[in-house]
Amino acid sequence: MTRLVNVSNRVALPGARSDGGLAVGLLAAMHRSGGLWFGWSGRTNEGRDDEAAPEIIERNNVTYATLDLPETLFDAYYNGFANGTLWPLLHSFLDRFQYRAAEYQAYADVNARFARALTPLLHKQDLIWVHDYHLITLGSELRRQGVAGPIGFFLHVPFPHYEVLRALPSYRTLMSALLSYDVLGFQTELDRHSFLSSARALWGEGCVSPSPGPQAPGRRVYTGVFPIGVDVEAVSRAAGRSAASRQMREMTQDFQRRKLVIGVDRLDYSKGLLERFEAYQHFLESFPQYQGGVSYLQIAPLGRQSVEAYTRIRATLEQRAGRTNGRFASVDWTPIRYLNRNFPHATLMALLRTARVCLVTPLRDGMNLVAKEFVAAQDPKDPGVLVLSDRAGAACELGDALLVNPYDTQGIAGALKTALDMPLAERRMRHERMLTALREHDLHQWSESFTAALRAAGRRQRMTRNEDPAGVYVTPRPLNG
Ligand code: G6P
Repeated sequence: MTRLVNVSNRVALPGARSDGGLAVGLLAAMHRSGGLWFGWSGRTNEGRDDEAAPEIIERNNVTYATLDLPETLFDAYYNGFANGTLWPLLHSFLDRFQYRAAEYQAYADVNARFARALTPLLHKQDLIWVHDYHLITLGSELRRQGVAGPIGFFLHVPFPHYEVLRALPSYRTLMSALLSYDVLGFQTELDRHSFLSSARALWGEGCVSPSPGPQAPGRRVYTGVFPIGVDVEAVSRAAGRSAASRQMREMTQDFQRRKLVIGVDRLDYSKGLLERFEAYQHFLESFPQYQGGVSYLQIAPLGRQSVEAYTRIRATLEQRAGRTNGRFASVDWTPIRYLNRNFPHATLMALLRTARVCLVTPLRDGMNLVAKEFVAAQDPKDPGVLVLSDRAGAACELGDALLVNPYDTQGIAGALKTALDMPLAERRMRHERMLTALREHDLHQWSESFTAALRAAGRRQRMTRNEDPAGVYVTPRPLNG
C-alpha cells in the first residue's frame, strides 16, 4: 500500500495556530488521505547546532514529524533566502529582491537537513510530495540520500519569466535541482510555460518533449498544471453556520445598513494593498454618493515581520488608512477599518458571506484562495461580487469575477461601483458559474490529481511507460549540456 508523504516548511500541527493558505489547504487534504507530514516545527533552538531527530505526533490517520532549526540558520534560510530572495524573485518584484551567498548556503543546508531527517522515516512504497519555494533543493538532497521512489514538487507561487529568473546567481543550480523530481506541478499554464521556456533557454529546445516516447533514454520529468482549490462544501457550511450565530449577527449589524466591502490578505507587498487603498479613496472621491453607504473592512494579519520589506509596508499602510479616514470619516462612519489581526477560519468565512463585495487585487499571486473562499462562502440566493486581479492564478478559473488590473486604481474604483450596483440576477448568474468552476477543481481534486501523477511516475520508474499521463515532459540534461 502506498503512503502519501507531504513535506512543507510550515506544518499545521494539531492544537497549534495554523495560518497561511498552504498549511490550511494541506491539512484538509491530509485529513482525507492520511500519511506522513514532515516539516519545520515552528521552533528554533537558540544557538544549538545539533541535529536532533524529528518530533513525532500521531493524530487520527496523520503522522506529523517536525524538526527544530537553529535560530541563525533559520533566520538566513527563511527570512533571508526564502522570503528575501525567492519570494520577490518568483513574484517578479526585482526591486524587492536581494541576494546574499551565505543565505543561499543556509537554504541549501536546511534542505539537506530535512533530507537527512526525513530519509529514515520513509518506506519503500511512499509517494513523496514536496511543497513550495522553501524546499526546491530537497528532491536532489533526497536522491543523494539514496531515495529512489517517486518524488513530486508543487510550486504554490508563480514561476517567473526567464529574464527575471536569471537575476538569481544560483538559478542554474535551482533549475537543475527541480529536475531531480519526477513530477513538477504548477498553479497555471502560464507558470508551467515560464518554467519550460527557462528549461529550453538553459538546455536547448530538445529537452522538452510532448510525450515520453517508448525509446526515451534516461529519467523524464512530468510537468503538469494543478490549480489548488478549496473544500467548497466545507467552506459553505462553515460560512452559513457561523453567519447565523448570534455573536456574528451582532458583530455584523452595521452591515445591514451599509454594504460591506471586504479584503482579507496576509500583510504582504505582493497583495497590492497600497494600490487597493488608493483605489478605494479614488472611489469615494469619484462617487461621493457612496460616502457613508459602504464600509471597507481590510483584514491583514501580520507575518514575516523579520523581513524588512514587510515592516516598511506595514507603516505605509497605516498612514494611508489614517489619511483616508481623516479625510472622509464622519461621527458615525469609518470609511476603512484596517485590522492587523487574524480571526478563526469560521469567523472569516462568515464575514466573507456577509460582504457585498470582496476585493482581491494582488499585484501577483500564485493562486489566491481567499478569492475562491469568498465564492464558496456566498449565499447563492443573494451572492456578493468578486473583484479580482487578473494577475492572480485564480483569475484563470474565475472569469466571471470582475477582473481588474491591480495597478489600475481608477479601474478598481470603477469595478467597485459596478459591483455595488450589480442587479441580483447578474450576481446570481456569475456566482453560479464560478461555483461550478470551483467544484471542478476543488481541494480534493487537486490533491488526488497530483498524487495520481506521482503514482504514474512510480509506475514509469518500473518501466510501464504506456501509462504515462498526457503532458509535457522535460528530459534532465547535465548543466553544461
Ligand atoms: C502563503 C503562500 C504560500 C507559502 C506560505 C508560507 O500561503 O501562498 O506559497 O508557502 O504563504 O507562509 P509562511 O507563513 O510560512 O511564510
